Amino acid sequence: MRAKVTIIGAGNVGATAAQEVARGDYADVVLIDIVENLPQGKALDMNESGPVLGYEAKITGSNGYEESAGSDVIVVTSGKPRAPGMSRDDLVATNEAIVQAVTGAAIAQSPDAIIVPVTNPLDAMCHVAKSASGFPKERVVGMAGVLDTARFRTFISFETGASVRDIQALVLGGHGDQMVPIVSATTVGGVPLSRLVTQERIYSMVERTRKGGGEIVNLLGTSAWYAPGAAVAEMVASIVLDQKRVLPCTAYLEGEYGIDGLYMGVPATLGAGGVEEIVELELTSDERSELDVSAAAVREVVAVLS
Ligand code: NAI
Ligand code: 2OP
Repeated sequence: MRAKVTIIGAGNVGATAAQEVARGDYADVVLIDIVENLPQGKALDMNESGPVLGYEAKITGSNGYEESAGSDVIVVTSGKPRAPGMSRDDLVATNEAIVQAVTGAAIAQSPDAIIVPVTNPLDAMCHVAKSASGFPKERVVGMAGVLDTARFRTFISFETGASVRDIQALVLGGHGDQMVPIVSATTVGGVPLSRLVTQERIYSMVERTRKGGGEIVNLLGTSAWYAPGAAVAEMVASIVLDQKRVLPCTAYLEGEYGIDGLYMGVPATLGAGGVEEIVELELTSDERSELDVSAAAVREVVAVLS
């Protein structure tokens, strides 16, 4: 029997994530939105792409939560995206209310699920989902680091001409402009990035990564969805298929990396139990200080939560 994945919010990110999960063919998908006919229409369209793309997973669209009962994973994308000139943190009040409400409704149907918040401001919304669900920290894990790392890998590929497949990188910290690309752990075909590219060019790629969300908002007038949807699907697959991938995830820290009582992006082993282990890397002293700066920025947003 296929697993079941519920995605709340049938907008750009939610619908893209739904199709990416369906393409994996290991889980049926329930797509939920408050807008009438939107999730139903998108679900039907995705079902109709199954014969072409070769997947048999069933996608169900709904404005309620009954169909989501017994889900293994609940992805929360409902909320407002960023508009030009708006920071992720400006979204906090509106999206806090939405994430709180949808989390409560979803877990009433799926008390054993793992929740993957995506809605911004992401780190703060993980706190909201954890508190609204009452779930243990292992079962609430946010998506941001896979996306931020994908952006960093893309820019390194643009710079070096190397295949993105051969670029290993990691972006940690909060999902804000203070995120921390870990250059000391970044390699191209096994060669440290710092041996291939000047410090000045590395700095420019780090800055572009930090502002990567805003770059797309400025181009499109709304935030990204293809890479975010694909990033969600990579995390969902690791959980549902118990792949135990080590992925940069927004996990609740209790002393790891010297940070306590806060959701932050760190490398974590993701499996059937959710966050099964937080991997502690050796960071340079500069990277550690930058992580502290990022943690302080996340704490400021968390402090705004009601
Ligand atoms: P969107 O506007 O395309 O979709 C949001 C959907 O949520 C809409 O269809 C809306 O009707 C629905 N919605 C609102 N309130 C709801 C409720 N109470 N119940 C059910 N559905 C509800 O926005 P998009 O582009 O899909 O972005 C969604 C969120 O994800 C935004 O907050 C955005 O900032 C965030 N995001 C986070 C990323 C990350 O890395 N964590 C990356 C990209 C986006
Ligand atoms: C992104 O990074 C805005 O969080 C969204 O694209």
